[in-house]
Amino acid sequence: MPKQLKTATDLDQPITPEEEQLLTSLRAQKWEQFYGQDNIKQALRIAIQATKQRLESLDHTLLYGPPGLGKTTLAHLIAKELGVNIRVTSGTAISKTGDLAAILTSLEPGDVLFVDEIHRLPKAVEETLYPAMEDYALDIVIGKGPSARTLRLELPKFTLIGATTRFGLLAGPFRDRFGLVHRLTYYLPESLVTILDQASKKLEVKLDQKASLAIARRARGTPRIALKLLKRIRDFAQVNQIQVVDLATVTAALNMYRIDEQGLDEHDRTLLMQLITKHGGGPVGLTTLAATLNEDTGTIEEVIEPYLLQIGFLKRTPKGRVVTDVARKHLAKK
Ligand SMILES: Nc1ncnc2c1ncn2[C@@H]1O[C@H](COP(=O)(O)OP(=O)(O)OP(=O)(O)O)[C@@H](O)[C@H]1O
Ligand SMILES: [Mg+2]
Repeated sequence: MPKQLKTATDLDQPITPEEEQLLTSLRAQKWEQFYGQDNIKQALRIAIQATKQRLESLDHTLLYGPPGLGKTTLAHLIAKELGVNIRVTSGTAISKTGDLAAILTSLEPGDVLFVDEIHRLPKAVEETLYPAMEDYALDIVIGKGPSARTLRLELPKFTLIGATTRFGLLAGPFRDRFGLVHRLTYYLPESLVTILDQASKKLEVKLDQKASLAIARRARGTPRIALKLLKRIRDFAQVNQIQVVDLATVTAALNMYRIDEQGLDEHDRTLLMQLITKHGGGPVGLTTLAATLNEDTGTIEEVIEPYLLQIGFLKRTPKGRVVTDVARKHLAKK
């Protein structure tokens, strides 16, 4: 079992049930409350409107991109806009084709089946999904050996919405069966400011403009992180009896939580520092890096690296990961 690096902030770590509840309460309930990702929103709304006019079910939809950018939120919004039920499950929860059959046969026509972490579906289950997605039918094998026969079960016309952080792990034939495929991208600080302003009203914490921009800049382009930071700053302000959170409060709170101006936490800095001190800045392969950090390769690839790559602190080369000069300069400032 690889040891998880723990930091004062744990921005990248799975969220606690208490945090989950808070984030769910902050979840956008209407399209108007879902900021940014304008192209995706527009494309989805057109597809939804056309679907409703034709009284059909929406094409199967695949949403992918780094954690915390709003895939789950979008899936819920899609179902709401379609006016249908949403059934939520995940790739790890469906272990047998029987589990899948039970879910699919319980759906109403037009319903959304949301499968989170869809890249983790077992192969057999995935293959059962192919005819279900294409022909709205399930082929069930009854019996074994020469007497085995296949029974075809008709299904209601449903919409599968899959979410994944690992698009590359999905098999080609699987990807091809999604009519709508959208990649969510990191948010601009302006969008995060709007998200923060909306959430601060719900959380009853007063933020001035410079404060919300400072939080947005350190949130790694990620709404979930922006909201987590806001929550920590609210705690800090409450304990220190600060009525209106300003730039100084944000800076003091985030310094205390050891989140730097680039939004990097201890995880990110450790990865970069280890790459520099133990491997001369790279290139170093993913498995070696994982062993050095005592971290699993999936966490590095899916969670820690994407943002470092995005801001140009890390480069992926055919020979492995390399720390860039910009990253070295940033670390030297500490
Ligand atoms: N565009 C947005 N506008 C407002 N809030 C957002 C937006 N995107 C995400 N959020 C908020 O950020 C949090 C995380 O979003 P969500 O759970 O949908 O992300 P996700 O992409 O499903 O993440 P994961 O890959 O970890 O499952 C939620 O509280 C959600 O309300
Ligand atoms: Mg999600």
